[in-house]
Amino acid sequence: MDFKPYIRTIPDHPKKGIQFRDVTTLFGHPRAFRAAVDALVQPYAGVQVDKIAGIEARGFILGGAVAHQLSTGFVPVRKKGKLPWKVLAEEYDLEYGTDKIEIHVDAVKAGDHVVVVDDLIATGGTAFAAIKLLERAGAKVIGCCFLVDLPDLGGADKIRALGMEVTTLVA
Ligand code: PRP
Ligand code: ADE
Repeated sequence: MDFKPYIRTIPDHPKKGIQFRDVTTLFGHPRAFRAAVDALVQPYAGVQVDKIAGIEARGFILGGAVAHQLSTGFVPVRKKGKLPWKVLAEEYDLEYGTDKIEIHVDAVKAGDHVVVVDDLIATGGTAFAAIKLLERAGAKVIGCCFLVDLPDLGGADKIRALGMEVTTLVA
């Protein structure tokens, strides 16, 4: 399935010059949403995955569906100050600013095989920070899944260079 027609591009959002890829249009389409989740889990058939780590906010929607499909647990990777228990935190740069993400200190067990899920990878700053957090907590991150890759920004290749499986559906 070609997923591109289901993703809306909004010019100059949230800042001038950014072509914002709005995946809510794909989430709203029953066949496209299911097909996207099916495509993202495909590389993990028969592979040990203990937890899906979904990145706030759209990675929660996609990651929850992926975790259900693979029968794994789910770890929310949240923006700063949202989680109620003790956290590990990482700061990172974005295409349009900086931010901080956090996980609970006990979100994964040592040696857990984890796959990171988000809607989009641009510079890779967010995914890279999530990988660092999960590894600090003792997990082994075996791969990352995104609906959209912005290849000109190089994030997916940066993660691949770490030796991880990176799945993307639309460039
Ligand atoms: C978007 C997207 C990714 C991140 C990718 O989220 O959902 O999480 O940017 O960019 P990167 O590869 O350059 O790090 P955003 O930070 O806009 O936050 P939001 O989910 O609150 O909209
Ligand atoms: N995150 C970083 N760049 C983005 C873009 N162009 N569209 C949506 N989310 C993004």
